[in-house]
Amino acid sequence: MRTRPAPERLGSRAAPARQRFRRPTANNGPDQISTKRMSKRTLNSKCESFALTNNLSHHGLHANTPMPPSMNSPTAVAPLHSSRESAREPLTHSEVVLQTLLSRQSHWPLTSPGPNDTALAAIFDAALRAPDHGNLRPWRFVVVRGAARAALGEVLVDIACARSPDEPRSAHAHRARKAQAAPVIIALGAAIDETSTVPEVEQLLAVGAAAMNMLNAIHALGYGGFWATGPDSYDTAMHAALDFQLSERLLGFIFVGTPQPDQRPATRPERSAFVREWTGPSTRTQPAD
Ligand SMILES: Cc1cc2nc3c(=O)[nH]c(=O)nc-3n(C[C@H](O)[C@H](O)[C@H](O)COP(=O)(O)O)c2cc1C
Repeated sequence: MRTRPAPERLGSRAAPARQRFRRPTANNGPDQISTKRMSKRTLNSKCESFALTNNLSHHGLHANTPMPPSMNSPTAVAPLHSSRESAREPLTHSEVVLQTLLSRQSHWPLTSPGPNDTALAAIFDAALRAPDHGNLRPWRFVVVRGAARAALGEVLVDIACARSPDEPRSAHAHRARKAQAAPVIIALGAAIDETSTVPEVEQLLAVGAAAMNMLNAIHALGYGGFWATGPDSYDTAMHAALDFQLSERLLGFIFVGTPQPDQRPATRPERSAFVREWTGPSTRTQPAD
């Protein structure tokens, strides 16, 4: 039986960069990924390869970090439509990364385990790689997990009671369960710098870009995520309960955890409906001055 090499500490300084980022060849261990059989083992290898080539040692993530079910699910990574000549050819590093991006989907509800501190650090570091006009760093994240979720659930019920004072508190009990829908909840905040020449919309977009990076990192690590807002996110009582400052905006919550098994892959639209090419000014008559 072929033995796998001992798990390498990811991105260890001993490993030269060219080795860590080399294109896969016929015999280079975990980087060998065949598109032919998407077995659980293969998908784990893909995760390892992805992790290896992305130098996650900084976060203490190892090549043998167990991957939760979302990445082990055969539906988690849809076949990549590539121009490769043979399905037996190993995927390149770029293809693995692209495969990860193309296979992300939202999951709800989410169960334990959720990401631990190490994985959360990687998720937040991914967020901080988002484009950010003017280096304003508007990102603000608040982690709610463990027993704090029950307290968040009570805040949700309080808000609903305040909104509908005629209804009994019990009518809103289901809202407390929302806070238990994932082991980790991350409130997304945007600290808006009103003195900046960077328009507010761009500062909000920077937080949106960070959220997208987080969702991709969550998926790449084998977890599932869901970005939810709703009226509670924009309620001043929720803003205050989470200790956001007046200059900060609450843009929703990312729920993080382990997806339910056997989730169907999301249906995705045909790209041609959303993309067009501009080849120069149109020949339509310009309005007269
Ligand atoms: C800013 C933002 C807020 C959202 N808020 C909600 C929400 O409150 N409830 C909901 O069901 N989906 C919400 N969604 C959509 C889900 O997060 C998710 O994108 C959607 O269910 C489609 O799943 P997909 O990510 O697999 O395409 C929101 C998405 C964005 C970008």
